[in-house]
Amino acid sequence: MRVGVPKETAPGERRVALVPDAVQKLFDKGHEVVVESGAGAEASFEDADYEAAGARVGDPFGVDLVVAVNRPDPDRLREGQVLVGLLQPLTDSEAIERLAARGVTAFALESIPRITRAQPMDALSSQATVAGYKAVLLAAERLPRFLPMLTTAAGTIRPAKVLVLGAGVAGLQAIATARRLGAQTFGFDVRPVVREQVESLGATFLDLGVVGEEGEGGYARELTPDEMARQQEELERRLPEFDVVITTALVPGRPAPRLIPASAVEAMQPGSVIVDLAAVAGGNCELTQAGVDCVEHGVAILGPANLPASMPVDASRLYSRNVTALLEHLAPDGQLELDFEDEITAAACVTRERVSA
Ligand code: NAI
Repeated sequence: MRVGVPKETAPGERRVALVPDAVQKLFDKGHEVVVESGAGAEASFEDADYEAAGARVGDPFGVDLVVAVNRPDPDRLREGQVLVGLLQPLTDSEAIERLAARGVTAFALESIPRITRAQPMDALSSQATVAGYKAVLLAAERLPRFLPMLTTAAGTIRPAKVLVLGAGVAGLQAIATARRLGAQTFGFDVRPVVREQVESLGATFLDLGVVGEEGEGGYARELTPDEMARQQEELERRLPEFDVVITTALVPGRPAPRLIPASAVEAMQPGSVIVDLAAVAGGNCELTQAGVDCVEHGVAILGPANLPASMPVDASRLYSRNVTALLEHLAPDGQLELDFEDEITAAACVTRERVSA
């Protein structure tokens, strides 16, 4: 099988779909890998590293299967080609239609079912892990005080209080990272099972009196308007206690739930920091601007648009393993054998070449 790795073109993107170690493994299994010149440069992987791993530097679109982080321009793809990447099938239907019109068979990593045997392919989790970790570092850097408790000759400094709203993969990683840095940590999520996960990390579960449900695939269902209003009201009362609030709340295919109204920001202590990981999905805080750091009522509000891209080496390493696991699934004996009866293949496939449909 011939696999192509393009250089990512999305603004600010620094990740690459396959790192040289992953290329080496594909090469050892008899696959040919073609890497676009400079594809790994932003992640510190040079063309020579890819060549040493057995890849050829050339046109990554002249192959059977293209692996990317973000969706490449559909015009660069041709009929019969297979594409694997983070294709935003729930929010970018226009692009999916363009891929379908080109006759491309596309697999979106986001659509892989969250079942045990698909865990090695779970790029949402691997990239959320990076985002959750980095969110805490951004907050620590921005906060005008220490995170840990310090006892010094000049007196004792109390630890900062960090609240994480939405304790899924990114949120749990944020809690663990804030704990490691010595902060007093708190977590909240609408899914009832999360209480135990938050407590197992040594954090306190913040009881807001709102309990939602876990839906298909372990995801949260959207709260009713009444539940959402109660959650906002209770948060407004509790938020002034916290120095840092990291929000990660998402509901697949829906705008991000609005957890923090402007009035709640106003009630927080000046110097506090909010890091809103749902910024691109509309933000969990009313005052968040995607891709912008701003200060409102003395509170810094950070709306990073793509945190995994800010740690491109490890984010690409993890992503590479997810992609490789999916390739092994789609081509178990070295050649693509697309079995649309298979649960993972069927769910991940978002467009299918017309002739084989
Ligand atoms: P996500 O990124 O869709 O959402 C993040 C978090 O926001 C979730 O924990 C969700 O419950 C929470 N949330 C939604 N609305 C909220 C609200 N109004 N207030 C507070 N929190 C709210 O979800 P993520 O992190 O990708 O995964 C969620 C869960 O899926 C995991 O914790 C796990 O249970 C399950 N999962 C299962 C896997 C498997 O079995 N292979 C792999 C990965 C995740």
